[in-house]
Amino acid sequence: MSRYQEILQDLQRQPRTWLITGVAGFIGSNLLEALLKRGQRVVGLDNFQTGHQANLDEVCSLVTPAQWEQFRFIEGDICNFSDCERAMYWGREVPVDYVLHQAALGSVPRSIADPIATNAANITGFLNMLVAAKDAGVTSFTYAASSSTYGDHPDLPKIEHNIGNPLSPYAVTKYVNELYADVFERTYGFKAVGLRYFNVFGPRQDPNGAYAAVIPKWTASLLHGETVHINGDGETSRDFCFVENAVQANLLSATATSVAARGQVYNVAVGERTTLNELLKAIQDALGRKMAIPPVNVIHDDFRPGDVRHSQADISKARTLLGYEPTHRIYEGLAATMEWYIQASSNDDRLGRLKR
Ligand SMILES: NC(=O)c1ccc[n+]([C@@H]2O[C@H](COP(=O)([O-])OP(=O)(O)OC[C@H]3O[C@@H](n4cnc5c(N)ncnc54)[C@H](O)[C@@H]3O)[C@@H](O)[C@H]2O)c1
Repeated sequence: MSRYQEILQDLQRQPRTWLITGVAGFIGSNLLEALLKRGQRVVGLDNFQTGHQANLDEVCSLVTPAQWEQFRFIEGDICNFSDCERAMYWGREVPVDYVLHQAALGSVPRSIADPIATNAANITGFLNMLVAAKDAGVTSFTYAASSSTYGDHPDLPKIEHNIGNPLSPYAVTKYVNELYADVFERTYGFKAVGLRYFNVFGPRQDPNGAYAAVIPKWTASLLHGETVHINGDGETSRDFCFVENAVQANLLSATATSVAARGQVYNVAVGERTTLNELLKAIQDALGRKMAIPPVNVIHDDFRPGDVRHSQADISKARTLLGYEPTHRIYEGLAATMEWYIQASSNDDRLGRLKR
């Protein structure tokens, strides 16, 4: 049995209390679904800046009423320290065991357009969470780091200890998270684990807005018969990681007890590389297996400032120290993801925002 299966069984036998920040967002709501389905108690914190009530409503529809009863939602801001303190308790009395800190302002271009807002949520908010969690004496603190921390380092695949210079304000903020986590271990003995996500995708990832990620954006364009815009020549490559792999990494990290595994940063990815041109074809194929899609018109725009050219993770550290083993490669993840976008686009009640 894999370490992940062992942990899932243990959690089911002995439910724990979790805090998920950014719970109304893409990754946060997938974590919520996974934990509630396994009978866990969950506190969720979100200010709906980029997250949606519809994501919470959808999770509610996917779990039993008894499982949903185990969820307490706090509408609040990680930039407000008292909201962070309040979130360390389920109800008034039950202290949180594990923190999964996902709340942040994502997107490299957003951070270039508004570095002050990104800094506030991603650095001040992060520090608030770290202090509140340390003061509350939680068992573990896992946070969303980012592959953007590799910056201009040329080596492939990316190995955790070889990083370059950050290429955007967003990358700076995610690196500062790692520095703070490191210093909190040195100064307070408080260990946090950073998960450097590489292009996570899956159900509930937002297709709308100027800062949408590539897979939801292109999927929505294909579903609506709109032009697909590719930044640059399409040979830019990424290690696309299905959200269930990211959920697994979070649960493994939160429950890790070995001294070697705690207080580390880990790549969370599959360890493979797909170009944007290959990705577009893969999305078209995955959609085309489920429905007729209109012919696509493609426009190549300029390369985006702040973007790295190639990205691919070495995941051996997470494999060795956490027992992480991705269950979905890009094509399996895309099949599950397309199913969701097709359903969401045909159902105005649940997710009208995908319908224009
Ligand atoms: N999706 C990816 O590929 C990817 C890659 C690397 C890192 N990350 C990181 O993973 C985390 C989750 O990303 P996501 O893709 O789910 O994004 P998302 O935008 O869907 O989720 C972020 C959530 O945080 C909430 N939030 C933002 N600022 C907040 C604040 N001040 N107080 C309370 N809540 C706040 C938002 O409302 C949203 O619900 C982020 O930290 C992001 O930087 C994501």
